[in-house]
Amino acid sequence: MKVLYAASEAAPFIATGGLGDVAGSLPKALSQKYGDKIDIRVIIPLYQNITDRSGFEFAGKTTVPLAWRQQYCGVFKQKMNNVTYYFIDNEYYFKRNECYGHYDDGERFAFFSKAVLFILPMIDFVPDIILSNDWQTSLIPVYLKTKYASYSNYKNIKTVITIHNIEYQGIYDLNIAEDVFDIHGKEKSIIEYNGAINLLKGAMETSDIISTVSESYSREIMDDFYAHGLAKIISSNSHKLRGILNGIDTDFYNPETDSALFENFSSKDIKKKYLNKLNLQMLAGLPQDENIPVVAIISRLVKHKGFELIIHGIEEVLKEKVQFIILGKGDRGYELFFKSLQDRYHDKVAVRIDFNQDLARKIYAGSDFLLMPSISEPCGIAQMIASRYGTVPIVRETGGLKDSIHDCSLGFGNGFTFYEQNPRVLAETIKRGLKVYSEKKDWEKLVEAVMNVDFSWNASAYKYFDMFQGLLTQGEK
Ligand code: GLC
Repeated sequence: MKVLYAASEAAPFIATGGLGDVAGSLPKALSQKYGDKIDIRVIIPLYQNITDRSGFEFAGKTTVPLAWRQQYCGVFKQKMNNVTYYFIDNEYYFKRNECYGHYDDGERFAFFSKAVLFILPMIDFVPDIILSNDWQTSLIPVYLKTKYASYSNYKNIKTVITIHNIEYQGIYDLNIAEDVFDIHGKEKSIIEYNGAINLLKGAMETSDIISTVSESYSREIMDDFYAHGLAKIISSNSHKLRGILNGIDTDFYNPETDSALFENFSSKDIKKKYLNKLNLQMLAGLPQDENIPVVAIISRLVKHKGFELIIHGIEEVLKEKVQFIILGKGDRGYELFFKSLQDRYHDKVAVRIDFNQDLARKIYAGSDFLLMPSISEPCGIAQMIASRYGTVPIVRETGGLKDSIHDCSLGFGNGFTFYEQNPRVLAETIKRGLKVYSEKKDWEKLVEAVMNVDFSWNASAYKYFDMFQGLLTQGEK
């Protein structure tokens, strides 16, 4: 089967968030596991920040029509890990400092989506399935079912829209449907929702499958609290809905080989994890003591990651023998809160307002707990990376956190969990963790078990493969 995976970012070329990690690891895992049965290729924009282009090969150029515009479109490609990556080049749209956040993002990703379909004959790849991700590539299934509906070689292409976070929908003024999105007349109703353009809604209506990144999230988004206005569309398309938990690239996140760590280690010699801890404490300016439990927070500092619970619950926990290490940036209010907390508890709290991959991995390896009390979390990746590095997650039971982490009190648990959005409950849950930490034997058993949970794509890649196979045997619509 031939699959085209379209995304607005993919590691290692460019990753600003979880989508980039997934687009970098899932196609690779599918290709490794089903090599002879699947030809999966990835396509992303060629941003200015993709600087290492040493392996790139020129694959052609053309002109893509977008409403009244005729836009240059170059295509580059690179093969890596048995996956072919294509890059859409247009300097006017993509030679900019940031990937997102421009006034004309709608137009930029409309161009990208149009280009993806337009260049298929040129690259000689007509896929059986196109999987698009989030609002940026949502116009692909919309264009397929409208503009390309009568093209014989596109007619049988099946489509999947994967939602990584339903909060971001691509909402624009209805007036620009023709001029920017090149969608006219009756077809406008496909992308229209609540009096505006909603690109994600268009993809949900036109795709053959709607997938989300965990089973729990796929159920949660039936409810408007999680669906940010789209619950109605989810419900009317619920027969198309799937939830498949993400995995992580366990070759990349590997404590035995990760060069960012102070000391490499495995589940068989977790004593070496303590060396990472002592070095981390020194780096953070905290007292070095392997018997003090270290709780890490590695996150964007935004409300839906549960920071209201943290700021109201953390001081109760700080009465205990404990240290907190916080890495992240985001809302100014939270940044200021953590800085002042560090001033007040300088021997217990270390804060770095930053996002830094290398430091993040040192913290994953050197901490004992990772705190992630998200209010909503489609999947979450940090809890899986932490587990791989023997750092026990403390999470709120939502979305992918609920599906990946189970409370230790259940007997088979791999972390500590709670549901109620209440800072007191958060504090109690952390304290339950600290209690287990104080029983060294139990603790080391838990760390070993947590490290041995398989969060690789092994557990999920076959579900994607099954989903693709199901689509192909569905017959023509
Ligand atoms: C988004 C979600 C996150 C998920 C990631 C990858 O960033 O917020 O929960 O892990 O996408 O699917």
